[in-house]
Amino acid sequence: MKVFAVVLLFAFAYGATIPEDQPEDVEEFQLPDFVKTCYEDDPKLGECVKEAVSDMMPRLNNGLKALNIPPLDPFTIERTSLEYGNGALQGAIKMKNLKTFGMSQAVFRDVRMKIEDGKVETEIDIHFPKIFMEGAYKADIKFNELKLHPKGHFNVTMTNINTTHHWEGHLVPKNGHQYLQIDTFDMIPEVGDMKIYVGGIFPDPAMNKIAVNFLNQYWPAFYKMLLPETRSHWQPLMTNSINEFLGRVPFDLLVKKRE
Ligand SMILES: *[C@@H]1O[C@H](CO)[C@@H](O)[C@H](O)[C@H]1NC(C)=O
Ligand SMILES: *[C@@H]1O[C@H](CO)[C@@H](O)[C@H](O)[C@H]1NC(C)=O
Repeated sequence: MKVFAVVLLFAFAYGATIPEDQPEDVEEFQLPDFVKTCYEDDPKLGECVKEAVSDMMPRLNNGLKALNIPPLDPFTIERTSLEYGNGALQGAIKMKNLKTFGMSQAVFRDVRMKIEDGKVETEIDIHFPKIFMEGAYKADIKFNELKLHPKGHFNVTMTNINTTHHWEGHLVPKNGHQYLQIDTFDMIPEVGDMKIYVGGIFPDPAMNKIAVNFLNQYWPAFYKMLLPETRSHWQPLMTNSINEFLGRVPFDLLVKKRE
């Protein structure tokens, strides 16, 4: 049961990132006109960045070609996988055609940013009213002597999500621009409510229903336990994906040094 919660958690973490097979030709580009410019020495830098990013969000819906950003809603990940092992429990999960809806409704509640000697510290408070995720999964699970090979469809509806992203990074010169590269990433998403459906845990529909009810009843406990336990999986993935995104958007187009 635990492994399914890992899948859901992981999918949520990974759902907020960019797939890796995007073109790299970002040498000649400009930010679209609607993006506001901020200045490094602005005492309200965080506020400015918040407005710039909030302006950008609704337009990410169809993807932003100029920035090589794929559509946010739905955000599709063709394939992803996760291995999990902890004592008696071993699991490998493959997910296919994972679609996430609702990320374009993100509300940036607050951004705090500090730039000093090329080091950039950022905290971003984000609220998602609702995230719906669905996909196909296939798993191999070993629990002591018990072996399960469930597969099927799953979906998760999460509502009232608050999260704070903590980024620590530094500026890197490339192609005559400064890019932000993050060295550490952390987040602790708080989820108001979660409704989970997983098909195929057990072939028998009645048994499956019991398992699904169990998941829905105890999701807060699973979630609370699994978020830190799976951190070592999603943290480097998120860091890489965020850096992939940041590697396409010159930071000095968004946050300028005063001439
Ligand atoms: C999740 O999938 C199940 C089974 O396909 C379906 O009955 C249910 O309506 C789906 N949930 C949502 C919120 O779409
Ligand atoms: C998220 O923040 C809002 C506003 O501060 C609050 O009303 C809501 O209960 C929070 N949700 C969770 C899951 O803590």
